Amino acid sequence: MNLTELKQQLGELIDPSNQMTIGETESIKHISYDEEKDMVILTIAMGRLGGENEKKFRRDIARVVKIDCEYKGLQLQLEESKIFGSITQKPIHFIGIISGKGGVGKSSVAANIAYRMSKRGIKVGVIDADVYGSSLPTIFEIPHQNPKFDENKKILPIEKNGIEMISTEFFTNPGQPVLWRGGMLNSMISHFFYDVKWHDDTQYVIVDFPPGTGDITLDIKSIIPQGRMIVVTTPHPSASHVAIKAGHASKTLGHDILGVIENMSYFINPINQQQEKIFGEGGGLMVAKGLEAELIAQIPLGQPLHHQDLFEIDEVNGKIYDEIVDFIIFKSENQL
Ligand SMILES: Nc1ncnc2c1ncn2[C@@H]1O[C@H](COP(=O)(O)OP(=O)(O)O)[C@@H](O)[C@H]1O
Ligand SMILES: [Mg+2]
Repeated sequence: MNLTELKQQLGELIDPSNQMTIGETESIKHISYDEEKDMVILTIAMGRLGGENEKKFRRDIARVVKIDCEYKGLQLQLEESKIFGSITQKPIHFIGIISGKGGVGKSSVAANIAYRMSKRGIKVGVIDADVYGSSLPTIFEIPHQNPKFDENKKILPIEKNGIEMISTEFFTNPGQPVLWRGGMLNSMISHFFYDVKWHDDTQYVIVDFPPGTGDITLDIKSIIPQGRMIVVTTPHPSASHVAIKAGHASKTLGHDILGVIENMSYFINPINQQQEKIFGEGGGLMVAKGLEAELIAQIPLGQPLHHQDLFEIDEVNGKIYDEIVDFIIFKSENQL
């Protein structure tokens, strides 16, 4: 069988990652024949490399070349198509965690949402985009390491307990501050959104933003491809005031506000089980009203029993995080 006929037969094969045929997408990038070895040399582009899809695609191609067309050898190179991305792959939901000021618990909230999702069997990644206040690697107790790159120069996230993470921390020396500014910082952060090879089954990526409405925050917000924001505030009106500004900045840049979380809402007095409003009250509601969004939850003060910063389901805060996850999934899956 000659190469034209082989090409025709290959053209009917379906790329399992985007359900289109090789012919439709004109994905044969190179085809030649080594007479001496009776070997076909092929370069084919596929929608998305990796996982079961790539294995199946390789098997199908080998079957056509070696069994149907009876060539002895096959040298196959697969590359990722720049145009025909995967369509069977559901798009990843990016959930940004933002706040007006630092110290309100943004990173704790980001980490615990990811942790609970993962515990429920949802594949989740986190981007630590709080460039100068990076704390997610510490919260997840991930020792400093440099990420690796795959053959397509995509960043491979660092994985801990099934959660994949990318952080500026991994691109600096241990203990050293991030000294990038302007364009360099922008290009680094845009790699976090466009050039990370997340696990094939990833459904959610939680992004821990820098606080406030400064240049960097706005730059990062304009880099994030799509995504919805959760605003974190404390109960005190001074925190709420700036949280509303941060929320409006996101809206102006085209990001929806998924809802508001009030953190450090109250302290449960161990003596009489009363809720003590030691940081004031009303902040969460005020932000929700100001942004015309829902108040998703009020999280009390409290330290985790089992880990440094992460709560389990047998703790009050763990249960609240579980409800927050219910809310995120419901809203995301129904696109509300
Ligand atoms: N609900 C809470 N109860 C007690 N401490 C909390 C709570 N939420 C956050 N913290 C603590 O407050 C500090 C600031 O939280 P963090 O998540 O780092 O805030 P941010 O990322 O907004 O700067 C951390 O030490 C964190 O452990
Ligand atoms: Mg933080």
